[in-house]
Amino acid sequence: MLTGKKILLGLTGGIAAYKGAEICRLLVRGEALVKVVMTKNACAFITPLTMQTLSGSRVYTETFSPENYQIDHVSLARWAQALVVAPATANIIGKMAHGIADDLLTTLFLARGRMPVLLAPAMNSEMFRDKIFQDNLTALKKRGIYTADPGSGQLACGSSGEGRMAEPREVLDALAGLLQERQDFTGLKVLVTAGPTREPLDPVRYFSNRSSGKMGFALARAARDRGARVHLIAGPTSLTVPDGIQYQEVMTAAQMYEAVLGEAPEMHVVIKAAAVADYRPLEQAGDKIKKDSASLTVTLAKNPDILKTLGERKGPGQILVGFAAETRDLLENAAHKLARKNLDVIAANDVSRPDIGFEGDQNALTLLFAGGGREDIPPGSKDQVAHRLLDAVLRIKNRP
Ligand code: PMT
Repeated sequence: MLTGKKILLGLTGGIAAYKGAEICRLLVRGEALVKVVMTKNACAFITPLTMQTLSGSRVYTETFSPENYQIDHVSLARWAQALVVAPATANIIGKMAHGIADDLLTTLFLARGRMPVLLAPAMNSEMFRDKIFQDNLTALKKRGIYTADPGSGQLACGSSGEGRMAEPREVLDALAGLLQERQDFTGLKVLVTAGPTREPLDPVRYFSNRSSGKMGFALARAARDRGARVHLIAGPTSLTVPDGIQYQEVMTAAQMYEAVLGEAPEMHVVIKAAAVADYRPLEQAGDKIKKDSASLTVTLAKNPDILKTLGERKGPGQILVGFAAETRDLLENAAHKLARKNLDVIAANDVSRPDIGFEGDQNALTLLFAGGGREDIPPGSKDQVAHRLLDAVLRIKNRP
């Protein structure tokens, strides 16, 4: 599973460093390409020479190396497909959780971009149970960092309990799992909508909203990567159109209505992440409106509700996913939309929070399912959130 995969293996200072060496050996035996980064404390437990011999490659220990003109923390982060830190001490987890970058490993962690990171914590059980440590670990998990959770057993300090690093095989299984290219949407046609709509007032002005399209584009990419045939219908955005999908740009809610209802009958899954304007100016001026009067009254007309119409025309077996962007009474409003629009699931999105929702790269959702049931998708990148939403769609699809 790991053949040809480019893996960065980080070692920190703990007795379980010997398991890090075993992980390196197994990775190389599985024909992964491995580069090792060691903290100063890791070098107290195991030598860089050992890791160099096992990995067959230079070992990185310093942030700045005079013989190398490349900036290692950036070039390593760009090179790798995943970073595994095994063992991961309480210290490194604390630093990662708080964005401290004071050595090569913590610096390249900050430069990781979209690279998945897997931590294998290892420490004494008192340290493992400590509230500060647990808060740090939870903060990282909320940011989408994966963990190979430690087990219970004999510890180096002589006691027995939680905190014993996961076995090398377990770490490799977790790594293979997160790198696996899932093809679980193969054979499915998925329609995604994204972005805002623009409702013209005159030739140069329009009503719109803050949607960047990022959430919908992330859903389209995730469905494509999992094997779906994806049709993306988006309002105006400044995003790069993903490869390998059918893309259609629209401007107004009326155009989105036509485009979506034209495609929907063919689709197994429809996901409406677009922020469609509920109203449009009743009349559109042919020329730019002049500022002759002290005030201007604009009459708005209601736009068609695309999602509601989809719910009324839902085909057999078709799965309809709506979003509910709310600034108050999130779950009550979302539950109401779920029922009123005949959806299978609605993604309640708290857009009053500055850290998630519109425009940014992060989101968090609460899914409410038709017939009851709820799932919280914790804060993470829009890509991660998209995959979690697709997992839920697939569970509905595969229901007996
Ligand atoms: O684009 P980003 O910057 O990444 O931000 C993401 C997001 C916040 C826009 C997205 O996560 C989100 O919440 N999208 C739904 C926004 C919205 O319009 O919510 P709503 O509660 O007003 O609408 C409910 C549902 O009905 C939505 O699925 C919407 O697409 C749909 N709708 C609404 C009005 C309308 N006339 N037709 C519709 O189909």
